[in-house]
Amino acid sequence: MAIEPSDFGQEEERDRLVTPEAVAEDFDSEQNLRPHSLAEYIGQAKAKENLKVYLEAAKMRAEPLDHLLLYGPPGLGKTTLAGIVANEMGVQFRVTSGPAIEKPGDLAALLTNLQEGDVLFIDEIHRLSRQVEEVLYPALEDYALDIMIGKGPSAQSIRISLPRFTLVGATTRAGQLSSPLRDRFGVMLKLEMYSPEEIRQIVCRSAGILEISCNDEGAKVIARSSRGTPRVANRLLKRVRDFAMVRGEDEITGAGALYAMERMEIDESGLDELDRTLLRAVIEMYGGGPVGLDTLAAALGEEAITLEDVSEPYLMQKGLLTRTPRGRCVTHLAYRHLGMPLPQEEQQEAQQTLEELLRETK
Ligand code: ADE
Repeated sequence: MAIEPSDFGQEEERDRLVTPEAVAEDFDSEQNLRPHSLAEYIGQAKAKENLKVYLEAAKMRAEPLDHLLLYGPPGLGKTTLAGIVANEMGVQFRVTSGPAIEKPGDLAALLTNLQEGDVLFIDEIHRLSRQVEEVLYPALEDYALDIMIGKGPSAQSIRISLPRFTLVGATTRAGQLSSPLRDRFGVMLKLEMYSPEEIRQIVCRSAGILEISCNDEGAKVIARSSRGTPRVANRLLKRVRDFAMVRGEDEITGAGALYAMERMEIDESGLDELDRTLLRAVIEMYGGGPVGLDTLAAALGEEAITLEDVSEPYLMQKGLLTRTPRGRCVTHLAYRHLGMPLPQEEQQEAQQTLEELLRETK
């Protein structure tokens, strides 16, 4: 089963270049740019090194890899890594997602179509319904499917055996996984945001595949604004190429990339207009916070979930925003980032002005 464009998020995030969620436009390029082996995969050193051992051991035992849970923010390569597991094991890669498996029968159909050793990838696995999860448990534990035949007192449960397979589950919210499901994964790997240097290497690799000429400075500028996320980096690379081409430049340079970022209103920290508006709103409307997420979302005319999943993780990672039990607060770094005076500085300035005025009128 191939990854379908419909598996990718739609509409509401379309205009945000820095969204880590996949949008339909990412589909073709992600297929081309995905690394196919661990050796090609840049970054995630911790997860990669351990995965290498588990793969080698499974191969030595001629067994499928234990069920694997990948968790972490969107856009960091969970699907890519799952595909690599299938490639490295030399088996088929079957892709689906939590919301796509609506009924137990949908899952039964997927499971009975697997072949020995296959990798079944379920993206957004935290969105499986309880009913579907119940079907999954014996499949994971005993490679078996329990089917109820008949109704009422004559109903009978029949057990069908399945080929041994590896489930790779992916979630941005490991905490939302039910504990019986979480307990059935033998391996859990956390994906972290990439360093600017790792993103620079990914930009250079992608530029090579897409036959885009991009010098080191150009790649560094793109990397700096990519929010530690390869998906954002690859998207920005293509947009920066558009600006370079239309300006008659045959190479992406540092200056060319900076020009493009300015036109796209993405700053050197990867913040876009929505991020800056959010920070400014907390400062100007709520005195720096705390402010509740729903209140903030209503003030900005955005969905709370967009702020929570897309803007906040990165703003928190950059130390610009904090979540407290009473609501969201900006940090002094946010004031600095926006070039706004800190509240104490504002007071000191007002005090000084007042003192100067008083001195003058003496
Ligand atoms: N493209 C997207 N993610 C990548 C990664 N981690 N390594 C190499 N190329 C990539």
